[in-house]
Amino acid sequence: SHRITFGPLVAAIDQGTSSTRFLVFNSKTAELLSHHQVEIKQSFPKEGWVEEDPKEILQSVYECMERTCEKLTQLNIDISNIKAIGVTNQRETTLVWDKETGEPLYNAIVWLDLRTQSTVESLINKTPGRNKNHLKHKTGLPISTYFSAVKLRWLMDNVDEVHEAVVSHRAMFGTVDSWLIWCLTGGKSGGVHCTDVTNASRTMLFNIHTMNWDPELCKYFGIPMEILPSVRSSSEIYGLMKICSSRKSGALSGIPISGCLGDQSAALVGQMCFQDGQAKNTYGTGCFLLRNTGAKPVMSDHGLLTTVAYKLGRDKPACYALEGSVAIAGAVVRWLKDNLGIIGSSEELEKLAASVGTSYGCYFVPAFSGLYAPYWEPSARGIICGLTQFTNRSHLAFAALEAVCFQTREILDAMNQDSGIPLTQLQVDGGMTSNRLLMQLQADILCIPVVKPSMPETTALGAAMAAGAAEGVSVWSLSPEDLSEVTSEKFEPQINPEESEFRYARWKKAVEKSMNWET
Ligand code: G3P
Repeated sequence: SHRITFGPLVAAIDQGTSSTRFLVFNSKTAELLSHHQVEIKQSFPKEGWVEEDPKEILQSVYECMERTCEKLTQLNIDISNIKAIGVTNQRETTLVWDKETGEPLYNAIVWLDLRTQSTVESLINKTPGRNKNHLKHKTGLPISTYFSAVKLRWLMDNVDEVHEAVVSHRAMFGTVDSWLIWCLTGGKSGGVHCTDVTNASRTMLFNIHTMNWDPELCKYFGIPMEILPSVRSSSEIYGLMKICSSRKSGALSGIPISGCLGDQSAALVGQMCFQDGQAKNTYGTGCFLLRNTGAKPVMSDHGLLTTVAYKLGRDKPACYALEGSVAIAGAVVRWLKDNLGIIGSSEELEKLAASVGTSYGCYFVPAFSGLYAPYWEPSARGIICGLTQFTNRSHLAFAALEAVCFQTREILDAMNQDSGIPLTQLQVDGGMTSNRLLMQLQADILCIPVVKPSMPETTALGAAMAAGAAEGVSVWSLSPEDLSEVTSEKFEPQINPEESEFRYARWKKAVEKSMNWET
């Protein structure tokens, strides 16, 4: 059998909240050649707590790499053509490990976790004027359970092993990118402890203007700076893969890891939103709308975050974005499946919802982790309202899909108000975009067209592009012209705007109730 020659290939590890993927692309055409995906377990040890096992996360990466390498071999594609690997990840999720043993000292505390709610409330109460935006001028973020600093503080205060490791200078903190890069570049024997500017900008310890860890913020949260990873650009060689040769993925040893971006930033790059004003919305576990604002960090007046979008090279300028974050999108599907058992799969959800085509006046606000943008209300809780004797699981399924669309409408409105230039269409990606009913509903509720690329793995593509474009690798120049025509599908609004507004107004009422359900 002959080997097919493709020219340089570029790979990406995409470690998301719900699953891990490894993907290999042709760097000339951006064609996805092979990939593998593994689901990640989440545990909910107490109400509002969400954890994942750092070792399972790492194992899932190895497994995805092994299986993808096998598939490439079956396709007669030479693994040695892979020239660079990028890492992209669920952001904010917080880990601490021991640099001498290489062992994690607690589970990863997932971004959705609410255990720090009372800490957050007391921090806000201590600020002048009870202002949750007290640290926004430096971080671009409101004080919230969402970001890493409070999770790290919780670990130091509540886990003896973490406390002891910090005191004896053995502790390393990292988000998932740092954990993976450290392990994959050698771990306790010489692993590289780093992160990139996009991930750092989600910790609340990073100054988005100076682009450094901020000593004042570290002091505010009581975090010793020596446990923090070094901050690098999103596209440079961090280190080389070191994989035991007994593994099938051992063939990946020696390949540079040269791209690193939080998953939402990677999707922005993968969707080629390099111009000021360009935006994308990704439907994963949560839903995240990012709009590139160029070299300037723009502060929101409407509850959006200011975040580092990317910095594609050590000497390249940083680009910023405004971000609307929705905590629960795909997670509502998993909840209907695992917690209520009213569907067996996400495809079934689409069928069920399509069978009725209406929620019949039922509204479902899935505020499982409080509400994120634009409200930032940690005490909000999920509600389902408008039920009648007539309501059945199909209506509930429809209401769940509609909830994703309404939440996107809220952040799109905030984005339009902040920037003054309304988006005329919405570029989308992520797992849920394979749901055609959802895409149509989204166009109906936004009253603008929704545009979906034919290659849905834009997050991984962005990380692979960053890896391939790094100095010392350079198999990919980051210009959209280099890519073969990106084909896409467009969903046009089909209902009249009055009906859309009526449903949206009802949704807003339901949101009010989810924020005041205790009083
Ligand atoms: O901020 C959290 C985000 O990065 C998670 O993304 O795709 O796992 O929902 P996803």
